[in-house]
Amino acid sequence: MSFKLTLIILNVIAVAVTLAVVFWYVGSKKRNPESEPANLTPFLPDEQLEGRRLERVLATSLISAAIMLIALLAYFIWEPWRTEAGTDQFLERSIERGATLFANDQMDEYQSEFSLLCADCHGEEATGGTEQEIIESDLDECQEEENQGNVDVPQCLPIQVTWSAPDLTRASLIYSRAQLIDIITYGRPGTPMPAWGVKSGEGAKNAQSINDLVNYITSLAMTSEEATQQSTEAIDTYRDEAEAKVTDLQAAVDESTAALTAAQADPATSEDDLEVLTDELELAQEQLALATAYRDDVATLSDGAILFRLNCARCHTKGWSYFENEPERVDLPVLPPQGSGAYGPNLTGGAVLLQFPGKSGLLNQVAWVTDGVPANRAYGARGISSGRMPHFGSVLTKAQIRAIVDYERELFGDVSSESAGGGSSESDADEETNA
Ligand code: HEC
Ligand code: HEC
Repeated sequence: MSFKLTLIILNVIAVAVTLAVVFWYVGSKKRNPESEPANLTPFLPDEQLEGRRLERVLATSLISAAIMLIALLAYFIWEPWRTEAGTDQFLERSIERGATLFANDQMDEYQSEFSLLCADCHGEEATGGTEQEIIESDLDECQEEENQGNVDVPQCLPIQVTWSAPDLTRASLIYSRAQLIDIITYGRPGTPMPAWGVKSGEGAKNAQSINDLVNYITSLAMTSEEATQQSTEAIDTYRDEAEAKVTDLQAAVDESTAALTAAQADPATSEDDLEVLTDELELAQEQLALATAYRDDVATLSDGAILFRLNCARCHTKGWSYFENEPERVDLPVLPPQGSGAYGPNLTGGAVLLQFPGKSGLLNQVAWVTDGVPANRAYGARGISSGRMPHFGSVLTKAQIRAIVDYERELFGDVSSESAGGGSSESDADEETNA
């Protein structure tokens, strides 16, 4: 039996005993109508009262006062700790509810009537995943009704893409609590991320559930050290994966070539089979060509440029969330220039230098990327934060942020010679420290 339950039972017994005594006294008059009422009975004479009896009464009250004193002291000492434990328990339960909301049916926390299946897209460990999504072409010609759904105009057919859903174990490092609440409440229209909050007019979850989800996501957070280490390792992984794609596709081309050669040598092969094999080889070659171009492009990139792709491009480059998964896909629309704007604004063609001009602008831009600016506060030359841009100070090193900022300012800046000189000499120095 727990301590708490024991106390409750003791209390109940004490109340019951008190009531029994009161009723016994009330009933005593009925049982014995001849006895004198208690308030009319003369009390003990002074001689008797002022003897040991008085001492006993005084001693009893002293002991009771001492017990009270100790109990009160214990209560005051214990109370802050008890309150804290209460808050912790409250948070713990909120996290448990959040875990249930997040879960999918592969997880222990899953409950069919509550779970929202976030894990289907973001992964069971919340470390990121993918979602199959259908996208429509936004080419001009595809706006015409006769081209929509027309097999003769294949570039206008909807295509299925593999859309990346971000790692949420870094989410509480790059977003404030208020930002996370907003993202989950309103979702990301135009992406697979749904709106969940009643407040959005589309979701069904109240503020408490959103809060539970945010507490859950926050409880999963990796440390800042782990995050920066991961960001650093990701640069090499990015280069290696581009190389590995070429190796894989080269193997596929070799295999297709061998299959075709063997089929051509075999007189029993039908024309149709030859055609299929030729088509397969052509497709493999096209994919290899795309993967090779991608690999060669990646090979020329600075660390800053790769860090931009890994951390920023999904918001600042349209299509990056699905292009990055399969750069060798022949049916994907052509990717617009990096940083040319999507959910986050266009950063190219000097836009960044207009928002963050000159030397002080550079420092401002570093601060913007490092710490962000709360919603409705000013940033840069004439920006007002909408509270949507994440901040990266806890997941990237100072040198990495500086490398990204330099990349944005140089490669995206349509720079006048003067500011270009200033910018690049600084970044040269920085690149040395990076290397
Ligand atoms: C159908 C797939 C899908 C489901 C289900 C889903 N998400 Fe997402 N979520 C995404 C995608 C995709 C993004 C990235 C959108 C983008 O490209 O901007 C995202 C973004 C987010 C982000 C912002 C992360 C960042 O780094 O920008 C948070 C937080 C988030 N989701 C939480 C949740 C929670 C909590 C749930 C469940 C209540 C959920 N998601 C369910 C697909 C999904
Ligand atoms: C989750 C989406 C998202 C990600 C990821 C993101 N940004 Fe942004 N970014 C935005 C949004 C949205 C804005 C517009 C400002 C606002 O709404 O407050 C913005 C604005 C900016 C601006 C100011 C542009 C201007 O002209 O006002 C810069 C510079 C910038 N981002 C750089 C970066 C860098 C560098 C990274 C990666 C380290 C990055 N962003 C990652 C969403 C994102």
